[in-house]
Amino acid sequence: MKNNFTYGVSAASYQIEGTHNKFETIWDTFAKKDGCVHNNEDGTFACDHYNLFKEDVQLIKDLGVDSYRLSISWARVFPEKGVLSRDGIDFYKSLLTELKRQNIKSNVTMYHWDMPSWVYDEVGGWIHLDATEYFLEYAKVIIDELDDLVDMLATLNEPMCSAYLGHYLGLHAPGHRDLEEYIKATHYILLAHGKVMKYYRENYKKQIGIVLNLSHVLTDADNDDNNMAVNIHDAVTNRAYLEPVFNGSYPEDLLNLLRKNNIDLSFIKDEDLKLISAPVDFLGINNYTHALVEYDQSNQLLSKGVQSDLPKTAMDWDITPESLIKSVEQAREYTDVPIYITENGAAFDDELINDEVVDNEREEYILTHLKLIEQESVRLNIQGYYVWSLMDNFEWAYGYSKRFGIIYVDYKTYKRTPKKSYYSLKKHILSNK
Ligand code: FCB
Repeated sequence: MKNNFTYGVSAASYQIEGTHNKFETIWDTFAKKDGCVHNNEDGTFACDHYNLFKEDVQLIKDLGVDSYRLSISWARVFPEKGVLSRDGIDFYKSLLTELKRQNIKSNVTMYHWDMPSWVYDEVGGWIHLDATEYFLEYAKVIIDELDDLVDMLATLNEPMCSAYLGHYLGLHAPGHRDLEEYIKATHYILLAHGKVMKYYRENYKKQIGIVLNLSHVLTDADNDDNNMAVNIHDAVTNRAYLEPVFNGSYPEDLLNLLRKNNIDLSFIKDEDLKLISAPVDFLGINNYTHALVEYDQSNQLLSKGVQSDLPKTAMDWDITPESLIKSVEQAREYTDVPIYITENGAAFDDELINDEVVDNEREEYILTHLKLIEQESVRLNIQGYYVWSLMDNFEWAYGYSKRFGIIYVDYKTYKRTPKKSYYSLKKHILSNK
């Protein structure tokens, strides 16, 4: 295994902190619309990490990991247009100071999907150039105020989900279904990344990168149509992010398909692509499963997901550890920078019995994936692995119905109970150090 391999655990602002209704994000609005989020649940209270962060940092410490990956809520920092919240900044200062005190490194993401509602109301989400300027204004504050306390910084978490799930499939906030919006949101969210990269490089010196979710795409039924669907789905979900960030261009096959659908692509400027492809110090990869697809004539993007008979998690996602390695290999076609697996983990239907959660399936999932990563870490220059997630939390459209945590959360009392997987991860880390 690589020397200095980083073990970590991951979570995100909207999923754990609780807004306590002090500000609004696009997920609060989305959750109010019927049929968008399980039981109309939202992040008002979440895990109440806002109040319980010291206890949570202690649990991270006791787990024995080196690093904690968290995100900052843009809306907590800018609850209204032009209004900076000191309380918001101070919360993150306290959290980061507590991590330092406990000797845990921080890996901080500036955008994990919780766009303030005022930005959306103003410009319609990531589909407008102005969103990139608002984001830059926010990111500058974060960087200027917090850089001293941060070890690693990432601009975005999974821009594919913001653009494709949020603006094409309608499964994530803001819940739009529009092909033109998919490519606009893709481009402008990446441009926001590029603008922040420029600001950071000109003024600061630590490590900055981006987190992409990559899933190896394949088909079971090998024929020309399905193979074409594999390629185009790979372009839409993987290469549409890898290529601009590392090569400064969008996949030609994707652009051709968009043109065939009469999408005017003149908003994509060469100077944008220059900013977007500024060198990063690391790439974070999030991965949970592969993407099994077939040709679908009725979809403008020509593919649909299909079921396999492989074992599955509670999300109905196939358990395919080797596909994690395939995704890292795909990224390696683009870049030599260090790679961190910034999210990997699984939801299962946990039961708390006598103050215990015996989550054997999650334990097996995590250890299998982690051991594979350790084995491949030298060949593929993988510097670390973060489990998703520190604790059960608001799982987006699934609300609180899916539990990914290695710590169980009782949403009535907020009591935390480490699960069996927490203890076995702890043991694994200890024996590797
Ligand atoms: C990822 C998200 C994360 C979590 C996991 C299960 O796509 O980044 O917030 O929801 O999936």
